[in-house]
Amino acid sequence: MKLAPGTPLQVGLALDETELATPVGRLAMSDGLAQLEWSADTIENRWRIDPLLYPPEPGLQAARGRAFDGLPGFLADSLPDAWGRLLMKRRLEKLGIRMETLTAIDRLALVGTSGRGALVYEPTTTPADDVDAIDLDALAEQSYALLLGDEGSLLDTLALLGGASGGARPKIHIGLPVDDAASAEWIVKFRAIHDPVDIGPVEEAYARMARAAGIAMAESRIIPSKDGYGWFASRRFDRPFPGRRLHMVSLAGAIEAPPDMPTIDYDGFLRATMAITRHADDLSEAFRRMVFNVLAYNRDDHSRQHSYLMGPDSDWRLAPAYDLTFSAGPGGEHYMAIEGEGRAPTRAHVSALGRRHGLSARSIAEIIDMVRAAIAEWPRIAKEVGVHASRTEIDGRLAHIAAAFD
Ligand SMILES: Nc1ncnc2c1ncn2[C@@H]1O[C@H](COP(=O)(O)OP(=O)(O)O)[C@@H](O)[C@H]1O
Ligand SMILES: [Mg+2]
Repeated sequence: MKLAPGTPLQVGLALDETELATPVGRLAMSDGLAQLEWSADTIENRWRIDPLLYPPEPGLQAARGRAFDGLPGFLADSLPDAWGRLLMKRRLEKLGIRMETLTAIDRLALVGTSGRGALVYEPTTTPADDVDAIDLDALAEQSYALLLGDEGSLLDTLALLGGASGGARPKIHIGLPVDDAASAEWIVKFRAIHDPVDIGPVEEAYARMARAAGIAMAESRIIPSKDGYGWFASRRFDRPFPGRRLHMVSLAGAIEAPPDMPTIDYDGFLRATMAITRHADDLSEAFRRMVFNVLAYNRDDHSRQHSYLMGPDSDWRLAPAYDLTFSAGPGGEHYMAIEGEGRAPTRAHVSALGRRHGLSARSIAEIIDMVRAAIAEWPRIAKEVGVHASRTEIDGRLAHIAAAFD
């Protein structure tokens, strides 16, 4: 499970799974800091595999700090977040290995080719596994039990399907039919300990409101479950077609702003979006998401809740939005403040930020109006998708925010 000391890890880009991955660089650990060396192709073609901080130049580039386990931020994005890390730790324990003894590079090797986005790592040390029939109800139950500290017989299956996933909630990556013939890759999210029972319908309602507000969202749906509420499923935008992958970097990874600390605010998000994409459309989309998060009380808005996707000419664009739901951030505030305000941002805060980034007063007003109109549809949409237990709380909160905003 551990690489021999000094073994460099090859970093590849696998945009097409029917072909060999393109070598883009290699990585070695030295005194707890990763040293990155881009491949000759990356340098020659000026591929921006990292959008900002590690330019395609010859020589060794040391990770800029230890905040991301000593890795460059864009590579740390390949490692699983809280849920996947829990699975990885439990599986390694079963194999008699303590996760703490592994370096960040060993853990990338464990991710191998199964990570999000399109980066792959060699040599891979991913433990082999078989999955037979998939029983989603059983996996949801076992996920919940694992969060409570129980050992589960479905650990291996969960690890195979969700071991490389991001985010804190239990989730799996699976193929689901989209129409009669085709199947596509989806993320199915289960409930975490502190989630309401109807978290699935709530997230689906938020996705529908976001689309109505003009925000780009992946296709989503509710998968029926035994308990009747259903799970939220989102079609993976980093797997656009069967066998195809897109390279993805989170906001956190791109600017090396750790997600668990309020190191960045919305001003930083908008600035990063312009620096990475150089597209005015992406800037106003980022602004729209901020307005939505404020008015919809989506306060778990940390730096891994936004991502960028690389196009064929290593041009970067803002990825579709994800994980939009009713949520409290640290101490009830937004992770990312707006003009210094995280508790009760108003139209004045939002507008000032928009103006500073060059949006016209008119387009700011139009975006706010559209988001407000979409969120005003909450009661209808909530009913449509079967939100039940959470209705009263969200009704009250949204009404309060709408009244206080102007
Ligand atoms: N539709 C999607 N396509 C591709 N990647 C996604 C999609 N939705 C979420 N992700 C990725 O999965 C991670 C976890 O999903 P998220 O919805 O944020 O879960 P959680 O509620 O646990 O935070 C995200 O940080 C993002 O990297
Ligand atoms: Mg998330």
